[in-house]
Amino acid sequence: MSTQVRPKRPSATQLRRRKRGDKLVCLTAYTASVARLLDDSCDILLVGDSLAMVVYGFDSTLPVTLDMMIAHGAAVVRATHRAAIVVDLPFGSYQASPEQAFRAAARVMAETGCMAVKLEGGEEMAETVAFLTRRGIPVMGHVGLTPQAVNTLGGYRSRGHDERERAKITADGVAIAEAGAFSLVVEGVNEGLARELTEIVPVPTIGIGASAACDGQILVTDDMLGLFAEFTPKFVKRYRMLGDEIRAAAREYAEEVRHGRFPAEEHTYKPPRRPG
Ligand code: KIV
Repeated sequence: MSTQVRPKRPSATQLRRRKRGDKLVCLTAYTASVARLLDDSCDILLVGDSLAMVVYGFDSTLPVTLDMMIAHGAAVVRATHRAAIVVDLPFGSYQASPEQAFRAAARVMAETGCMAVKLEGGEEMAETVAFLTRRGIPVMGHVGLTPQAVNTLGGYRSRGHDERERAKITADGVAIAEAGAFSLVVEGVNEGLARELTEIVPVPTIGIGASAACDGQILVTDDMLGLFAEFTPKFVKRYRMLGDEIRAAAREYAEEVRHGRFPAEEHTYKPPRRPG
């Protein structure tokens, strides 16, 4: 009997201990097919509510529902076995009260099998983070540029350039870490602030547009693969241009179908040979 030992997914406690250890490698994943390809390379796959723009073509994350996050979260969990899966709580599913957040997070955990949830916000969400973690739900925080607050922040510009904003983001990060979050996404802040936060908070910081000073990095997978190429933020590195590859493949297919070159003999079922 073969006893193939599968590597275990890291737990929240193990990920928390990576503070100042090996950098945490994180990417977003929304579908089974892509999650399967990313699983071996990543510590964490985030089923981010950025799927609003990337998968559904909305222009913000606000229209995402809990049911959408659960459907995508469950697909990503089913397709992977190595990375820790974290699922975003969508806008409106957790901000009203700790009890509302618990109901949403419990559904996400139970119906997807994910390891943790992520929620956005700082000091005002600390009570909720404590409420969830005390009840068995690991939480990843998210401070700095928080896309669900786009309408109060006034856009997607990077944050923390004046002293008041800097102090607020630092206080947010500290409050969320002290409330029990096992890690903290830090989005869209300059290097000095990212370094300061990383030095102060006792949990790993995971940067997106927040310099190399963080304990880990995350990118939206479709951005780094060149699949979502309408706009490239400064902080994105395009590791491949798969969008161009897909466009070229579709053109080649169209050409072959139109000229009768596809399907060829080798793609065609033949009737079975009759004996005798
Ligand atoms: O929704 C998302 O993809 C995110 C990452 C950008 C951190 O929150």
